[in-house]
Amino acid sequence: MNVLKSAWRRPTRFAWVALPALLLVAFAACTGDSATYPQSTLIPKGAFAEMVDKLFMTTFWWALAVFILVEGVLVYAIWKFRGRPGDAAPAQTHGNTALEIVWTIIPAAILAFIAVPTVRTIWRTSEDPGRDALVVEVIGHQWWFEFRYPEYGIVTANELRVPLDRKVDLRLTTKDVIHSFWVPQFAGKRDMIARHTNHFWFSAADTGIYSGQCAEFCGMQHGRMGFHVVSSDSAGFAAWVTAQKTPMVDSTMAKDSVYQAGKTAFMAGGCIGCHAMTGQPTANLVDLQGPNLSHVGLRHHLVAGMLLNNDEDLARWLRDPQAVKVGSAMKLPRPLTEGEITALVHYLRSHR
Ligand code: CUA
Repeated sequence: MNVLKSAWRRPTRFAWVALPALLLVAFAACTGDSATYPQSTLIPKGAFAEMVDKLFMTTFWWALAVFILVEGVLVYAIWKFRGRPGDAAPAQTHGNTALEIVWTIIPAAILAFIAVPTVRTIWRTSEDPGRDALVVEVIGHQWWFEFRYPEYGIVTANELRVPLDRKVDLRLTTKDVIHSFWVPQFAGKRDMIARHTNHFWFSAADTGIYSGQCAEFCGMQHGRMGFHVVSSDSAGFAAWVTAQKTPMVDSTMAKDSVYQAGKTAFMAGGCIGCHAMTGQPTANLVDLQGPNLSHVGLRHHLVAGMLLNNDEDLARWLRDPQAVKVGSAMKLPRPLTEGEITALVHYLRSHR
């Protein structure tokens, strides 16, 4: 307390300590890398995100200049015209038309100045991505993302695979409430609205796995409505397309009793009622309630980005989905036995 009291008595000394500490905290947020801050817009990885980042930085530096100028004049005025013991009461004034006109015109001019790059960026980011772009239909569900590739006839969930060398032309809509598509390192946000298709594009400038998130409150598990974008070079993307289009051959699994037990549990247990699966009658149905599980073994994450795609996490999900993600549409008619869970994990993760 004594330190605070003496600091309070010597405001300049207090400022010398407090200001650097404040700046340290403020700038700590700007120094991250993608691994530490997977949803940072300050680490752009594509043309769209770079345009937005450039606009942000431009307006940030302008705003900083205005801030320093205004606060500088303010601090100077407070210091220069401070009251001293024995001072007479200052002259009372009211209104100054010339001054008021000046301080209305200056901010208006600054806003007009900022509007130029802002409108230019809006136009550029709204441009048609062109005919060569990879069209992906994105459908929001409570609480997961569905991705359809009409060009390849592929339907997947929660993991958007894209090549480096093509723009991605997104067609966004929703099956239920309003959601919002957002991959901070690739592009801004775009709402997903029922019976309406919103357009959006981005391009990936680097390979890797990037975090995405629903950005519009959409119910209990909005915070866990995540997904990932996996960008790879054209060969890597082509390999993924080939894998997606190659049906699982059941005969290779015929001798695998655990696989067969898992298949039985999947079919007889009713999973197939909500989830499409390659090689099964539901494979080509796209309007089922749950995520398409064809080639689910190839995905990096499960449950809308919440769990890792490994045996342990999948078993945890199957054991009690409502304990993992309460409110989810994944409701089991009866608890699965440990034997069924082991078999289902093997069956599902074999679908690569
Ligand atoms: Cu979907 Cu928030």
